[in-house]
Amino acid sequence: MHRLLYTSEARPVGSGDAAQDEVQALCRRFADANAAVGLSGALIYIDRQFIQVLEGTLDVLEDLFERICCDFRHANVRLIDLMPIEERLFKDWGMACLSAGESSPINLRDELSEVNFLVGVNGREAVDQIRSLLNRYGGGASFTQASGSERLAEAFAA
Ligand SMILES: Cc1cc2nc3c(=O)[nH]c(=O)nc-3n(C[C@H](O)[C@H](O)[C@H](O)COP(=O)(O)O)c2cc1C
Repeated sequence: MHRLLYTSEARPVGSGDAAQDEVQALCRRFADANAAVGLSGALIYIDRQFIQVLEGTLDVLEDLFERICCDFRHANVRLIDLMPIEERLFKDWGMACLSAGESSPINLRDELSEVNFLVGVNGREAVDQIRSLLNRYGGGASFTQASGSERLAEAFAA
């Protein structure tokens, strides 16, 4: 099993909270698709930047990353890290989503900005930070628990 981390620049998808809503809707769709192929992860959206963590088998990750790289909804895809892992950090989420728009709590905006900075310096710390933000904002309004998570859990149990 491997974990992949990349960043990219979102193409304009509306502004402010509209963009945030759109990203959350995308996450729900990705979560379902990911659950079907045993992928887990998280997507961060802050200041028009995407930061995505994906976990799964190497062949499935490579296949998806190839598609992601040529997706017109973003540009300048930069692979930050691809590492073998023993255990998933995001096993409860087909695709967790943390995004901050104009009406988000200032704390969440600040913390996501910090992750955005950290990812350029130390990818592994950035991943740990994302994971701990999910603990903290897990029940918050700006958080979308992946709808595919139950199915993912079933897939692992099988
Ligand atoms: C920022 C970003 C993240 C994405 N994450 C996922 C993902 O986690 N899972 C997924 O199936 N597709 C994801 N996609 C969509 C893929 O790029 C692609 O559109 C999708 O897999 C369908 O591919 P296909 O049209 O070749 O079947 C993402 C796209 C973007 C722009």
